[in-house]
Amino acid sequence: MVLPDLNSHNKHFNPEQFRSNFPALNDQSVYLDSAATALKPQAMIAATHEYYAHSTATAQRSLHHDALQVTARIDKARQYVAEFIHANDNSEVIWTRGTTESINIIAQSYARSILKPNDEIIVSELEHHSNLLPWLIVAEQTGAKVIKWSSNIEELSSLISTHTKIVTITQMSNVTGFCPDLATISQITHQYNAILVVDGAQGIVHHSLDVKQLDIDFYAFSAHKLYGPTGLGVLYGKQQLLKQMNVWQGGGKMLKNASFSDFQPAELPYKFEAGTPNIAGIIGYAATLDWLRNWDVKQADRYTEQLANYTKSQLEKITDIEFYSVDNSPIISFNITNIHHNDLAILLSEQKIAIRTGELCAQPLMQKLGCHGVIRISLMPYNNQQDIDKLIQAIHNAIAILK
Ligand SMILES: Cc1ncc(COP(=O)(O)O)c(C=O)c1O
Repeated sequence: MVLPDLNSHNKHFNPEQFRSNFPALNDQSVYLDSAATALKPQAMIAATHEYYAHSTATAQRSLHHDALQVTARIDKARQYVAEFIHANDNSEVIWTRGTTESINIIAQSYARSILKPNDEIIVSELEHHSNLLPWLIVAEQTGAKVIKWSSNIEELSSLISTHTKIVTITQMSNVTGFCPDLATISQITHQYNAILVVDGAQGIVHHSLDVKQLDIDFYAFSAHKLYGPTGLGVLYGKQQLLKQMNVWQGGGKMLKNASFSDFQPAELPYKFEAGTPNIAGIIGYAATLDWLRNWDVKQADRYTEQLANYTKSQLEKITDIEFYSVDNSPIISFNITNIHHNDLAILLSEQKIAIRTGELCAQPLMQKLGCHGVIRISLMPYNNQQDIDKLIQAIHNAIAILK
């Protein structure tokens, strides 16, 4: 079996060739909302179509040819993901519905059973609601406290204590693009025997990560942000933690045996995968990762960074623009004085340009930034300079109407 080798030297990256893999880019519209969800390559679309058109079957259940094939493809996909994030073992990769579900599993199946009143969960202020609400919910259930952390390393050293059981932060902010120093955070967290939970929803797209090297305890991400299908995500957890955790949901195939009085959970990873999985999604994601290994992702990231710098240099020429994002990031967030972000989004949409505006599911961060919403441009290696030139022209057209 050939696994994605992101460090191979046989790879290449040609922006126009890369772009031609995305059927959604064949019309005149401009897509600059990839941090919400990425466009899908033909390889993923074809694999999903092939499953539904020619080889529909369920996994881990029936014994006919197509069903056995599907089971093997799901195992292969799990191995692809394990390789991608450098997990120790395939059984540390759990299929979920997405980042949100993965973090809720950690909160309910891990944290809920270990937290006691006055224990502390340190949560960074950068977080998307899906890495805040699960902690607020489990804190209420257990009497533990959620402690707000600016994401500054020195501040972590002063907040952390023997009460701290969990430290959690995003790999990359979906608002500012900031990427924290996970190696140092991991070190500080483990000095206090706490565990580190990393939200990889945005980070995995632009920065490949080694969960072993960084000593991350739990890592969550969604397939759809990395060119894959919606409704599919991954929960990575260290084996010893996953083993000690309670099951998440009850249902078919998550058990070894069951009676009317009790049940014995299945081994990892199946213990956390009750019910029929998102088979078409997993097959599509395997095709995505297989396709991705043809490309030099480091070169693709450099290209995106250059395009981001070009974008920012053009935006900076607009008067009264205020940026919230860090430099060199594929995520560019800003506001223009006296223009409501949603008015701009509507006028850009009328010019066939897709962007994201609003609170970006990060209300506490908006409060910190002192605004009620932002305009966000998010780039992927399938974007090009023409996209940006069209965007800038469209913004000028909108300003002429709105000001
Ligand atoms: C940083 C971050 N975390 C979590 C999520 C939630 O992802 P999902 O809705 O796929 O579960 C997102 C989605 O935008 C995100 O950007």
